[in-house]
Amino acid sequence: MRHVYGVATRKGGQGKSTTVSTLGRLCALYGVRVLVIDLAQPGTSSASLRNLWPEAEHGDLATAMMTFQLVPPNMLAPADAAREVLSALGLPIILASQPSWSGGYIGVLPWDELQGDAAAHLHSGRVLESLIVALNSQFDIVLIDFPAEGGPLLTNALAATHTVILPIAPEIAALEGLEAMLRLMGQVRESGHDLTLGGILLTRCDPKTRRTLDSARTIVQTILQAGEVEGEPVGRKLFPFAIRGNEYFEQAFRYGEAIWERTSNPAHWAGYVLLTEWLLCDADLAHLVSNRRGPAMLLPDTRVIDISALMLSEPEVALGDFEKAHAPSSN
Ligand SMILES: Nc1ncnc2c1ncn2[C@@H]1O[C@H](COP(=O)(O)OP(=O)(O)OP(=O)(O)O)[C@@H](O)[C@H]1O
Ligand SMILES: [Mg+2]
Repeated sequence: MRHVYGVATRKGGQGKSTTVSTLGRLCALYGVRVLVIDLAQPGTSSASLRNLWPEAEHGDLATAMMTFQLVPPNMLAPADAAREVLSALGLPIILASQPSWSGGYIGVLPWDELQGDAAAHLHSGRVLESLIVALNSQFDIVLIDFPAEGGPLLTNALAATHTVILPIAPEIAALEGLEAMLRLMGQVRESGHDLTLGGILLTRCDPKTRRTLDSARTIVQTILQAGEVEGEPVGRKLFPFAIRGNEYFEQAFRYGEAIWERTSNPAHWAGYVLLTEWLLCDADLAHLVSNRRGPAMLLPDTRVIDISALMLSEPEVALGDFEKAHAPSSN
């Protein structure tokens, strides 16, 4: 499996689960076969996809991992055995797909409460990676909602991940979570595992709240001025758009629905459409970008938060202007 993305930071409440579930839904809409792995207590990305959940019975991810507790350190479990175990447990759960998804679907390895304990019994930190490898031919992209806590589950998540998307909310303490995550990634790289920072995503950015904007500006400035941290050119890794902060995300989570079922204004989730399209290009699926449809149909006048406009009085610009400013030829 080439395209495993971890949504991760070392501080809670930064929008990891919201990012995983919204990206998952949008990827499927573009025709991607996406696997969502929920390692984050208390399973909010599983819960956020509730309205697509089928009736079917299924076993636990913890049981699947425990089957391979004797795999020696640093070794992968055999793919055939992993495939058999997953299928006997009814995993991954394939969510109800929509006709408009044109072949895309979402599979979920859902969170369960024994996961942390099960991971603690594993000799190999590569058991989760083994399960992903076993599902290689069924999925194009894997999204992992990272555990906030350290420990064996985090070790497994890091070993399975190739690219990290690092969400950061506009609160100054979030910078500590960012720095700690970058440090951890540096250690993982030193141990020989190729782990890249895909991008830093400013989340929960309410353009109408002064305090949020002030914190967002401080955070953006700090990141842009940081130069290289742990071998990553962090300033260049800040996504040029941000995710809007609004109450519909909270509502969508509460009802286990997509945000576009709570509001019809695409400006509220436009940042996630731009992130999905970045993801498709990064995962060699750029040909699917032309599948913009349904909730992914943004208009040229849809407002998006532009990180470079954040420093000015009006952080939101029309999508048409944003795309012109960020077209590859203008760089
Ligand atoms: N763009 C947004 N606008 C407003 N609220 C948001 C937004 N994104 C997430 N939230 C809300 O903020 C809270 C934290 O988000 P989320 O659960 O996605 O973060 P997390 O990083 O997964 O947190 P945890 O560390 O608890 O797992 C949730 O109540 C969620 O509904
Ligand atoms: Mg979460």
